[in-house]
Amino acid sequence: MVEISTSILSMEKEKATKTFYNLETANTDYIHIDVMDGKFVQNNNHKLMKEYATTIRQISNMPLDVHLMTYNIKDYIEQYIDLEPNIITFHIEAVKSKEEAYEIIKFIKENNAKVGISIKPNTKVEDIYEFLPYIHMILVMTVEPGFGGQKLIPETLEKVKKLKQYIEENNIEVDIEVDGGINSETAEMAKQAGANILVVGVYIIKSEDYKKTISELKK
Ligand code: DX5
Ligand code: ZN
Repeated sequence: MVEISTSILSMEKEKATKTFYNLETANTDYIHIDVMDGKFVQNNNHKLMKEYATTIRQISNMPLDVHLMTYNIKDYIEQYIDLEPNIITFHIEAVKSKEEAYEIIKFIKENNAKVGISIKPNTKVEDIYEFLPYIHMILVMTVEPGFGGQKLIPETLEKVKKLKQYIEENNIEVDIEVDGGINSETAEMAKQAGANILVVGVYIIKSEDYKKTISELKK
């Protein structure tokens, strides 16, 4: 059984509150908040995403799965802490050194959130092996970060397979989340590869019946 983290990146602003309510009743496991600073990725939506996350927290207890596609990671973590996110994920490509990565891991834990590290399609899984014992989740990007509605890059699922094998061989407890281009067929491929949390944006947000779409993806 996989968990579903619905990305609201492609949601229409005027439908926000209704969408949040519908997602809560459709039993999404998380709401995936895609924070973009206009520097790490060209899109800049961080003010709007903070607004959405605040609204969600005002009307529900849905767990927030915050995906920081930003530099100045600590500043963005501080912006979200008061919303009590379930997990905060940063990009390994956005830190200057391993020491900085360990500092951020510690900072997120000190602020009572779980820690995720994300890798872009061209980043090797080996680059994050050393952090695995200290974090809760690896977010393997299955598209280039920055936009919703893109097609999954099949080669990225080879990374998921490799990561799954490594954590099993080394008895490491860590969730594997995939993000980008997930629909009914790619969800199957991602599960086979070893992912246990699926981020899904357009495929849920544009669907007629959230509850039905989410329960099908979970099978
Ligand atoms: C892309 C984001 C993803 C994206 C997923 O940079 O990190 O979370 O919103 O959306 P879909 O499922 O539409 O590809
Ligand atoms: Zn994301």
